[in-house]
Amino acid sequence: AEPDLQRHFDGRVAADQRIEPRDWMPDGYRATLVRQIAQHAHSEIIGMQPEGDWLTRAPSLRRKAILLAKVQDEAGHGLYLYAAAETLGVDRADLTERLISGRQKYSSIFNYPTLTFADVGVIGWLVDGAAICNQVPLCRSSYGPYARAMVRICKEESFHQRQGYELLLRMMAGTPEQRAMVQDATDRWWWPSLMMFGPPDAESPNTQRSMAWRIKRDTNDTLRQRFVDMTVPQAEKLGVTLPDEQLRWNPERGHHDFGEPDWEEFRRVVSGHGPCNAERLRRRRAAHEKGAWVREAAAAYAARGARRPGE
Ligand code: 3HC
Repeated sequence: AEPDLQRHFDGRVAADQRIEPRDWMPDGYRATLVRQIAQHAHSEIIGMQPEGDWLTRAPSLRRKAILLAKVQDEAGHGLYLYAAAETLGVDRADLTERLISGRQKYSSIFNYPTLTFADVGVIGWLVDGAAICNQVPLCRSSYGPYARAMVRICKEESFHQRQGYELLLRMMAGTPEQRAMVQDATDRWWWPSLMMFGPPDAESPNTQRSMAWRIKRDTNDTLRQRFVDMTVPQAEKLGVTLPDEQLRWNPERGHHDFGEPDWEEFRRVVSGHGPCNAERLRRRRAAHEKGAWVREAAAAYAARGARRPGE
């Protein structure tokens, strides 16, 4: 009966055992996973646009090849995550519909414009760096398919972060204009990167339950702090300043103190009113509509294959 199933489920989560697709799980656990994994997948797919804008304008063949590999990786991350979501009984076409109609979210970070090529480096350094801080703990998420998708994604994410940082090191060793481009991009992407981790714990309606179910292994503020502590020395090595006067090492805490992100801006961007929200969804919708014939052809071919040979 249900109480025994609930007890069995709770015991497995408490013992850090994986919950697998065919296991009994509370409806709320399933719904939370569908919400988080779908949004994570949508973020990967939308995240292809800001960098994709620079594929035809990369300054060298080497940079174009690296960027092409990274954008293709993001598409693959989206596919792994849609596949993980489908183990929970949802359909990828329906999830895409929800994204395009604005009924499901994707990460706020991808609603900012990529104004210069230095943005490609700063996205690798800061955005993929923040993603690593957020995704490594998710390798221990209680839901098996999600945790296993994270292991593969995190390996590729570290290549994304390193290529971005290497690009910035090269630019910082370049002309004064290139150095100024890197500082300008850092100034524009720093605060939105801190917002990627979500609202403060005190204003997060989901963190408590997600932690109890071990879907999330750390809170939003813990991961944000970890990202700041990891990034400050990297900025020093790079020779850029992070745009926060309150940023300083606090020996008592053993962490860096830092300023408060603009949560008004965060709410605006999450609710669809950021600099690029409309364009991102318009392009996603256009790609979906333009690709309809491919899906129809694949479905027709698959159906043909199902008929007896020689028919
Ligand atoms: N952008 C958009 N929405 C956000 C957000 C953000 N940065 N942070 C929080 N939200 C939303 C949440 O989805 C939630 O709304 P909902 O209940 O309607 O879904 C609401 O704001 C309250 O936030 P909570 O902290 O209570 O919600 P969660 O417990 O879901 O935590 C999260 C938010 C930390 C983003 C969590 O969902 C998570 O860890 N997701 C997995 C990682 C992920 O999605 N990363 C996105 C970037 S993908 C990426 O970086 C790819 C790389 O290649 C660059």
